[in-house]
Amino acid sequence: MDRQVKRIGVLTSGGDAPGMNAAVRAVVRTAVGRGIDCVGIRRGWNGLINSDFIRMDASSVSHIIDKGGTMLYTARSEEFMGPAGRAKALGTCKLLGLDGIVAIGGDGTFRGALALSRQAAESGESLSVVGIPATIDNDIGCSHYTIGFDTACNTTIECIDKLRDTMQSHERCSVVEVMGRHAGYLALYVGIAVGATAVLIPEREVDFEQDIVEKIRRARLNGSTHYMVVVAEGAGSAVEIGKRIHQEVGIDPRVTVLGHIQRGGSPSARDRETASRMGYAAVMALEQDKGNRIIATQDGRIVDLDMEEALAMTKTFEMDRYQVLEALTNSKGPGL
Ligand code: F6P
Repeated sequence: MDRQVKRIGVLTSGGDAPGMNAAVRAVVRTAVGRGIDCVGIRRGWNGLINSDFIRMDASSVSHIIDKGGTMLYTARSEEFMGPAGRAKALGTCKLLGLDGIVAIGGDGTFRGALALSRQAAESGESLSVVGIPATIDNDIGCSHYTIGFDTACNTTIECIDKLRDTMQSHERCSVVEVMGRHAGYLALYVGIAVGATAVLIPEREVDFEQDIVEKIRRARLNGSTHYMVVVAEGAGSAVEIGKRIHQEVGIDPRVTVLGHIQRGGSPSARDRETASRMGYAAVMALEQDKGNRIIATQDGRIVDLDMEEALAMTKTFEMDRYQVLEALTNSKGPGL
């Protein structure tokens, strides 16, 4: 029998990602449509600590589905990591009468949510939390896809395509640093899609000679006079890699660190649609009293998973994609 859910909170936390707004919209519209009150918690977990919230109704999420960023603002909260911060947050939940919270963000956001729910249980309160994966890094173990990744890939590709125009004209080497401190999905997908000369990702140890020098040489022997090296930020600094290419290959690369531009922009069709389905699923999971859950995609389907089990899942490295990249950056031309 479904529990009577009267009021829920929704928040975005951690690094923003295009499509977060679409997820907030779906949570609010689904909840309101089912007679559930909805409160927007602003500035991530800090909003719960500081009682920083807004009442939400169907019209408060009008015209945001196409907007990047998050209308609820976001933050990474140090205070929430400790029990004292979470105790304050629970005070706000109690005051507002929240039965559950939908937390939109990454791994850290979900771990915080679980800790909050457990602390509530220890003090005899009940608070269900549901996570929606949103990060441009696509690095949530339980979900094949995270909201924002597709848009970030497209933005990054657009930037690199532009760089290629000028590198081609001047017959230069470009070293581009893309986001991904711990995960190389963005670099890997983008590297394949822009036809990069070489790609470095944090999941693979870098052998400078094989992974860069030899690839630039092969490209030259195949007739190329410009080169595109894509580096995930977790695999090394583009500036240092540029210097080393200069020393070891004798060419003078231009370095571009794309940075936070990759997190902005209007969300793609995939991100809007996925976020909308995930937002709907999150409210349904709360309404069906399924406990703490993470909404995930598995083979294109939206599923909800036990939060603790989901947080223990790890993503296996996408070796098949890496092999495609290797095949396409290693090709032996007629001269080899
Ligand atoms: O949101 C993920 C991410 O963009 C990573 O790719 C990057 O390493 C990090 O966030 C940057 O964080 P900040 O916004 O705090 O500089």
